[in-house]
Amino acid sequence: MTKTKIKKSIPRRPFVAGNWKMHRTASDTKILIEDIVQRVQKVATVDMVVCPPFTSLPAAAETLGRHSILALGAQNMHQTKEGAYTGEISGPMLRELGVRYVILGHSERRQYFSETDASVAVKAEAAVGYHLRPIVCVGETLAQREAGETNQVVETQIRGSLAHFPAAHLDELVIAYEPVWAIGTGKVATPKQANEVHHRIRKLLVTLFGEAGSSIRVIYGGSVKPDNAAELMAEADIDGALVGGASLDARSFFDIIEAARPVRASEND
Ligand code: PGA
Repeated sequence: MTKTKIKKSIPRRPFVAGNWKMHRTASDTKILIEDIVQRVQKVATVDMVVCPPFTSLPAAAETLGRHSILALGAQNMHQTKEGAYTGEISGPMLRELGVRYVILGHSERRQYFSETDASVAVKAEAAVGYHLRPIVCVGETLAQREAGETNQVVETQIRGSLAHFPAAHLDELVIAYEPVWAIGTGKVATPKQANEVHHRIRKLLVTLFGEAGSSIRVIYGGSVKPDNAAELMAEADIDGALVGGASLDARSFFDIIEAARPVRASEND
């Protein structure tokens, strides 16, 4: 990679999203959302998103109401507006429910449902066309890390997954770095390990998109918990978290949001 100058002064608002995966029925969703909303009422300096399963999105939207400080995200999306794609959900269907974000290329989608950088690229471009903000996930496996391939793997994923991304929508993009070996395993990357990769990602984004690359949020995911969130968030290049397991507990999710808040908020003052 060529040497790239990174502008450090651009403030990046912290971003914390809960990826509920295949958890919570519609009725359970109402209870969890109510609990989270009560706790986050006073948080004004963090972008907060919850991503329940498709079937729980209407219940979540209804519970949140129109002007919630918690935004709704989906966990996947088909790139086509409508058509003969059994089992799929389109962008306009999500938008009509009030969904604002969509997770794309999560490692579980890549591993179990054959998502590739090429399919993520098509979806990411389509998502912004439907006014959905993509949270594009990348990350290496344990074998790739042990082989010293982390930076190369992540760079290939980002270049591939953003191959068609329109420059005019860069401020809507969030990148989630999630080392596969840290997801759901309790093995969190050390803040230093995570920040090293985040720093490389930041440089790559600037190489690809110029100055605009400096303001794209790059968040960390993989066993983020209340007890490790603060030290991760304290790293200069970590702009927030994509939280799986711990986002299913309102208290834990709130504690992680709180951990994201002070460091970035004071930096942005
Ligand atoms: P985890 O999941 O926090 O349960 O490790 C993170 C994710 O998969 O987004």
